[in-house]
Amino acid sequence: MPRNLVILGSTGSVGRQTLDVVRMLGDRIRVIGLAAGSNSRLLQEQAAEFRPVRVALMDERAAAAWNNSWMPAVSGIQGFSSLVEDPDVDVVVVATVGAVGLRPSLSALRAGKLVALANKETLVMAGQLIQDELAAGDGTLVPIDSEHSAVWQCLLGEPRRSIERLILTASGGALRQVPTGDLKSVTPAQALLHPNWLMGPKITIDSATLMNKGLEVLEARWLFDISLDRIDLLLHEQSIVHSMVTFDDSSVKAQLGLPDMRLPIQYALSHPDRWPNQLERLDLGRVGTLTFGQIDLARHPLLTLALEAGRAGGTYPAVLCAADEIAVHAFLTGAVPFTTMPSMIQSVLDAHVNCPEPNVEDILEADGWARRVAAGLVAEASPF
Ligand SMILES: NC(=O)c1ccc[n+]([C@@H]2O[C@H](COP(=O)([O-])OP(=O)(O)OC[C@H]3O[C@@H](n4cnc5c(N)ncnc54)[C@H](OP(=O)(O)O)[C@@H]3O)[C@@H](O)[C@H]2O)c1
Repeated sequence: MPRNLVILGSTGSVGRQTLDVVRMLGDRIRVIGLAAGSNSRLLQEQAAEFRPVRVALMDERAAAAWNNSWMPAVSGIQGFSSLVEDPDVDVVVVATVGAVGLRPSLSALRAGKLVALANKETLVMAGQLIQDELAAGDGTLVPIDSEHSAVWQCLLGEPRRSIERLILTASGGALRQVPTGDLKSVTPAQALLHPNWLMGPKITIDSATLMNKGLEVLEARWLFDISLDRIDLLLHEQSIVHSMVTFDDSSVKAQLGLPDMRLPIQYALSHPDRWPNQLERLDLGRVGTLTFGQIDLARHPLLTLALEAGRAGGTYPAVLCAADEIAVHAFLTGAVPFTTMPSMIQSVLDAHVNCPEPNVEDILEADGWARRVAAGLVAEASPF
């Protein structure tokens, strides 16, 4: 029996690669739902190829303009939730970017689905709520992020009590060779040139600032239920060792592979099995050298801010995510220089009054508040 799949964010980088995996796997997976933000043209093409039962567009106008009589589009956050709650759905890939993944992820877990999560912001903002939902119901959560997939694979068959530390690797992003003094004049085009991964614009800029690594530490904290002080970071420019686990007998396990998101996506769909595929094989003889080093925290203030927001907890991580989305958008549209993003996000966090044990409404309210404050800071920023 094929597994019935819904992809939220099917038009993005992870969404399109998930569809590549489906093409590769033949009849093991059947796509029954596709959803996007506003890109109705690409969604239409995907729907024509994969023939899902339902589609959704978050943008009301794009949904209203959708003219496909045999497959009407639902819209808005209710539309997304209705797609994932359908009784026929087995697996939901959450590949939207930013805070918008939160409610549909909770809905899917509540409906007992397997959620394959690429959208790390969901766990960063609301890790406790996701954990509560997992404990209360039949839903299952598995990672798609390559570092977290690596940790997950390293942990298979290991007793939980033996885990000593997690080690997440970091490539250093597009600007790793740029001297700190030159970062102010970095253009969006430069910051978008990631050396190893081809990803959506938000995560690529987050990789350049190392905010992404901070978000990944917070994601790992909830995914593997481990305290932040037991998660280490390691610079590894080649992105071949995707992450590691140290055990209490001093053994270290690592998961390796070429930097290709289709492997962690496929594993999220196939586990506990492994399905043969045609992806290029890792040839370490050709790679030659794997290098490792320390991360310079002084050079990456957004990594430090992310870790501080994680330690503070409550609604701080949601504020961090929201302010970061606005700051990255401002940088990409030329409204602020690269080096303004940390001070903007810091100002929003400083102005926030924390809610220590938030429910979903508190989190979404903090998200909306942070977006407004950050947008105000962008509007005040003098043109450069
Ligand atoms: N790309 C990677 O290799 C990678 C690796 C690990 C983790 N991740 C994580 O995966 C998530 C997606 O990343 P990505 O690189 O695939 O992003 P992306 O290429 O920018 O794609 C984002 C997807 O989300 C949709 N979307 C955007 N705004 C939306 C909204 N307001 N409501 C509903 N849908 C919306 C987009 O639809 P439209 O096309 O219609 O705008 C698109 O389908 C992020 O959380 C990222 O951190 C990505």
